[in-house]
Amino acid sequence: MPLRGRFTPPGDKSVSHRLLILSLLAKGEMLVQGISDCKDVASTLSCFQALGGKAVPEQGGLRVTGLNRAFPAMPESGEIELDCGNSGTTMRLLTGVLAGAPGRYALTGDAQLSRRPMERVAEPLRLMGAKIETVGGKPPVIVTGGGLSSVTYVLKDASAQIKGAILNAGLSVKDEGPTVVVEKAATRPHSERLIDYFKGTVAVKGLQISVKPGTLELKETFLTPADPSSAAFFLVGAAMLPDSQVTAAGMLLSPARIGFLRVLDRMGAKVSITLTSDTPEPTGEATVAYNGPLKATEISAEEIPSIIDEVPILALAATRAEGRTVFRQAHELRIKETDRLMSIRHQLGALGARVKVEGDDLIVEGPTSFIIPESVDSGSDHRLAMTLSMALLAAKAKIPILGAESIAISYPGFEAQLEALCKG
Ligand code: S3P
Repeated sequence: MPLRGRFTPPGDKSVSHRLLILSLLAKGEMLVQGISDCKDVASTLSCFQALGGKAVPEQGGLRVTGLNRAFPAMPESGEIELDCGNSGTTMRLLTGVLAGAPGRYALTGDAQLSRRPMERVAEPLRLMGAKIETVGGKPPVIVTGGGLSSVTYVLKDASAQIKGAILNAGLSVKDEGPTVVVEKAATRPHSERLIDYFKGTVAVKGLQISVKPGTLELKETFLTPADPSSAAFFLVGAAMLPDSQVTAAGMLLSPARIGFLRVLDRMGAKVSITLTSDTPEPTGEATVAYNGPLKATEISAEEIPSIIDEVPILALAATRAEGRTVFRQAHELRIKETDRLMSIRHQLGALGARVKVEGDDLIVEGPTSFIIPESVDSGSDHRLAMTLSMALLAAKAKIPILGAESIAISYPGFEAQLEALCKG
């Protein structure tokens, strides 16, 4: 069944989280249009509100009032508990802000988030002077904030969440700064771009980002660009399914986010991009059309950050492609909502795909004709569930996907959009 049509994906999840979290350090009021309606961003919104932030839905968007660091007084228990749900981005980026806030905060999460590593954020923030406790490196994260000093920190992992947490803390240091983060590889630059857009003092030189302390200023309105990581399921689907052509409109086209379009282009799909705006983020339209059977490709370690959330759906494309596709050194996938290298191997393997994990390399041999079991299991990993949904579409099979309710973590409208694109 081909996928055909033009659609606007939901607002970008990474940008939506940051709009709310940076608003804790900002003054002014802003109408945010198109903020993501996903569960992860709902977690950030409820933390924002628990910290005293005001966000009220109105005609055309969400009216957000900057908290301007007016953090609430501590309750009798002596700490404020913040439930981050399933969202690692919420927990890590908030830890950065709260490291510079007076008071004690307990950041908790659901069972999946409670298994994810938090020392990667706690360690640099401790160097800045924050008191941060974890339980064996995992949540809950207890932050006793205030009195931060600037540091220069060389990241050990290519992670936008760690970078963002340090930059957020760098906005509240007591000295003049700057706080400097040196990246290992370029990751999504939304924190630095938004800090700059909201009149913070930030400078980027290659892989080095410096931020000075200060108060941010919200704009009157903010149009959230659409999420390429959500669009990817249908754009990659279009590359795999004969007669397909799908256009995603209003989409974030940050080069650090659209590595999957470059990979699809190498695999032989027809890909075109039209940039319509560059501020605060490159935004425009992306079209992918089927262009004959896909070819295998090699994805280098340097490319992984730009496809970090798209590896599952690209691995599915690789099962349709002629030859051996290799994703090199994809170890960051092991600490996502699930160990995604193993999840991809098991779940696509259950459909008969030839997938291996060697060290941290993911290897897919194609093409495969799928065998259809009675059901498939996403392990309640939203990106796996959507990948399996596209796999079943390609195989023209209708079987239950266990844990498919997890899709709402990032894309509540996924099924309805899939149906619409199937109808053309
Ligand atoms: C995100 C960064 C990525 C990505 C996640 C969202 C962000 O993680 O996987 O879904 O908004 O900063 P890392 O870059 O930390 O690996």
